[in-house]
Amino acid sequence: MDYQAVMDAIYTRGWVIVDDFLTAEEVDALKACLPHEWQPAGIGREGLHQGNPDIRRDQIHWLEPDQGAPVAAYLSRMESLRLAANRNLMLGLFDYEAHFARYREGDFYATHRDAFAGRSNRRLTSVFYLNNGWAPEAGGVLRVYDNDEQFLMDVSPKGGRLVLFLSEEFPHEVLPASLERYSIAGWFRVNGNGAGRVDPPR
Ligand code: OGA
Ligand code: MN
Repeated sequence: MDYQAVMDAIYTRGWVIVDDFLTAEEVDALKACLPHEWQPAGIGREGLHQGNPDIRRDQIHWLEPDQGAPVAAYLSRMESLRLAANRNLMLGLFDYEAHFARYREGDFYATHRDAFAGRSNRRLTSVFYLNNGWAPEAGGVLRVYDNDEQFLMDVSPKGGRLVLFLSEEFPHEVLPASLERYSIAGWFRVNGNGAGRVDPPR
């Protein structure tokens, strides 16, 4: 991956799509680490578990390095990205948190921002897709809007694809799919300005 090109894109327009960030084999290895148990995705601070099926219906499982070598390798790639972003963009990213997400057939996540200025320590969002051989007809796009809430693009959740965008600037939603859809959603965070894990929207 060309780190410089990725950082330049984030700098100039706030988002970037990296296809083949991982190979199909690496995606399969990550998929083999999917958990057997999932929790309903909450809205609001973790611990409150205020599931809201009108807003989001996915199920999640937080990534930890002890979930297998492919997970540890993924987290270490994100660490390299964090360091590159700090060097190139001076974002001051302090750490990274990520969860697997499973959207069953028909599941969605309504339009939201991952962070609101001054109310979250999330700065840069990553979404990585685990769906090798995804047929576009299956749907499940990530629909992205600009800061003025105008349609920007639809991103098909194909395996190996990584999407990065500034967490505060791009409202987005996940449209339902006709197949199970897996992703890893993650957030690079700055220190302070809200403690602990904060789930959008707030
Ligand atoms: C999220 C999210 C997008 C996706 O979890 O906050 O927006 O495409 N996920 O899975
Ligand atoms: Mn989101």
